[in-house]
This record gives sequence, C-alpha cells and structure tokens, in this order.
Amino acid sequence: MATSKNISPQQLAALTALGLSVPITLGIFFFKPVWWIALASLVVIFVGAYGLILYTLQTFIYRKMKLIYKFIYQTKASRKEEYYLKNILPQKSIDQVREDVETWAEQRKEEIEMLQQNEAFRKEFLQNLSHELKTPIFAIQGYVDTLLGGAMEKPEVNKKFLQSTSRNIDRLVNLVDDLDAISKLESGGQLLLMDNFVIQDLLKEVYETLSFKSDEKGIKCIVKKGCEFPLTVYADKEKIRQVFINLVDNAIKYGKQFGTIEASFYKVDGSSILVEISDDGSGIAEEHLARIFERFYRTDLARSRQVGGSGLGLSICKHIIEAHGQTIHVRSKIDVGSTFGFTLFSKKD
Ligand SMILES: Nc1ncnc2c1ncn2[C@@H]1O[C@H](COP(=O)(O)OP(=O)(O)OP(=O)(O)O)[C@@H](O)[C@H]1O
Ligand SMILES: [Mg+2]
Repeated sequence: MATSKNISPQQLAALTALGLSVPITLGIFFFKPVWWIALASLVVIFVGAYGLILYTLQTFIYRKMKLIYKFIYQTKASRKEEYYLKNILPQKSIDQVREDVETWAEQRKEEIEMLQQNEAFRKEFLQNLSHELKTPIFAIQGYVDTLLGGAMEKPEVNKKFLQSTSRNIDRLVNLVDDLDAISKLESGGQLLLMDNFVIQDLLKEVYETLSFKSDEKGIKCIVKKGCEFPLTVYADKEKIRQVFINLVDNAIKYGKQFGTIEASFYKVDGSSILVEISDDGSGIAEEHLARIFERFYRTDLARSRQVGGSGLGLSICKHIIEAHGQTIHVRSKIDVGSTFGFTLFSKKD
C-alpha cells in the first residue's frame, strides 16, 4: 500500500481526479437525479481530470526531474540509465526522488572528503620529503664549503669532513632508493617473483647481514625455541628479505643495549605462515601505533634520539606484504618492547 508520503504520480493523479469527479457528479445528480447521467459524468470527469493532471505532472515536474537526474549522472546517459529515466523515474514518488538525490549528494560528499584527504596527504608528503632532503643536502653543502674555505689543507680535519660528506650522501642515496621502492610498489608496476623458500634460512641471512649493527649494541638475534622446524613459504624472496631487513634494523635501532631480538614462525590454518619479530626495546606508545606504517611517520621518541632513518621503512614493509595479499600488524608496550608480525602463503606444490 502506498503511504501518503510515498505516492506515485499515477496514484496522485487518480486521487485528485477522484476528489474532483465525485463532488461534481454529486452536484449533477442533485440537479438531475438520473443514475446513468451521474455515472457517465463520473467516468468522463474522472478520466479527463486524471489525464490532464498526469500530463501536467509529467510535463512540468517529471521532465524537469529527468533533467536533474541527467545532471546527476553527468555523462551521457547509458542505455541502462535511459531505460531508468524513461520507465522507472515516472513511476517514482517525489519522496523516492528525494532519497535518490540525497544518496547522490552523500556519495559526492564522500568523494570530496577523499579528495581533500588526498590533497592533505600530498601536502604533508611534499613537506616531509623536502625536510628529509634538506637535512643531508645542507650538511654536504656545509662540509664542502668548509673544505673549500681552507679546511682541505688541514690534514687533521679534511678526512673527517669528507667522511661526514660521504655519510650524508649515503643517506640521500638511501632516501632516493626508498622513495623509488615505494613509488614502484604503489604504482603496482612491479611483478612479484614468487618462489618457495625456507623462511628461517632467509631470516638467518638477514641476521648475518645486520650482525655488524647488532654486535655494536650487544644485541642477541635468535629464533624462538620450538620455531626452528623449517617452514617453506611461497613469496618474493628478495622483497621479503627487504621486509626482514627493515624490521630487524628497527629492532636494533630502537632495541635496548644487550637486548634480544627474537623471531618466531607459526603455521596458521592450512595455507598461511605467521612470522613475528620481537624486541625488548623502547616500545611504541599507543597513540602512535595506528600511524607508524605511514610514509615518513616517526615517533617523537625516535626523532628526539636522532637514530637516523626517515620513516619509510615500515611503509615499504606494509606495501610489500599487501602486494602479497597478506597483512602486517604490530603490538607494543612502552619500555617492554614491540612485536611486528606478518603472514605469508605457505609452500605451493
Ligand atoms: N621495533 C621498534 N621499536 C620501537 N619503535 C619502533 C620500532 N619500529 C619502528 N618504530 C617506530 O616507528 C617509526 C617508523 O619506523 P620506520 O622503519 O618506518 O622508520 P625509521 O626506522 O625511522 O626510518 P627508516 O626505516 O626509513 O630508516 C620509527 O621512527 C620508530 O619511531
Ligand atoms: Mg626503519
């Protein structure tokens, strides 16, 4: 049953025609009480009024509404939309049309909000990028100027300045490499070279690669007891190596002196392997946890301690794991430590 709010144009025309024809017929019957004349008047007036009212509604209201719909769809109406405009729209009540327009407005609002958010991201990205570039470039400029200004002739400082220049150039190169990796991952232009390999072996290689750093801090890098049984995963080995390098590098950087980094591996359901890297370092405060996978995001603690880095490492990890169709997560508690975990497909036969 149509409610008074949800009435179609046909129903509206019929009701109005009825409202007109019944009193007029009653009037005619009053002056000429012949039943067939009354009945004929009722039919003629009802049909005439119905046709006229419907025509007026369609011409003056629904044609205009059709224009609004065409405007809403913007592009040239597709065949489906043409069908809709021709056959379905004229059946709709004003209330249904209002709902359609509200839905449309809601969608546009969401689109605009997303564009504004992207714009804010873009601005923040440029700000961060120029900041990250400025620091090493100004340092290099300073060292070179000092060398040219006479320090080159002083053997006690010239080598030190050149070494500092070289360190800052390395930082720039790392930054550009990271940005390159992110943009390639974001554009989705890179294919994954999927292969079966034993995940523990890859981690041990990464422990080995980074041992110069962990040894410096006296940090022990181990595989958790009970997790040594070799598990074979199906993934892009070099990209997962990058994930391990970034996570272990963070665990060393933000880990405590003489601490321990522990990796664990679990088979979850039939098709996935869960990998976790835990440290007993500074930990990450609750309010930062949701944001640390964003590009350039660093906690205040990491910034103030000046432990290198530009905040791209975790963003790269997230991109790589998501490109594999898997997820990465973090659990952490201040002064207790952090655990970064991600899943991978287990061996493909
Ligand atoms: N294991 C960890 N313990 C404590 N804080 C961490 C840990 N891993 C990451 N963080 C925090 O998350 C931030 C982002 O990490 P990410 O690896 O993206 O950047 P980064 O290490 O600062 O720089 P980059 O990896 O680009 O050299 C870090 O700056 C640090 O504040
Ligand atoms: Mg890092």
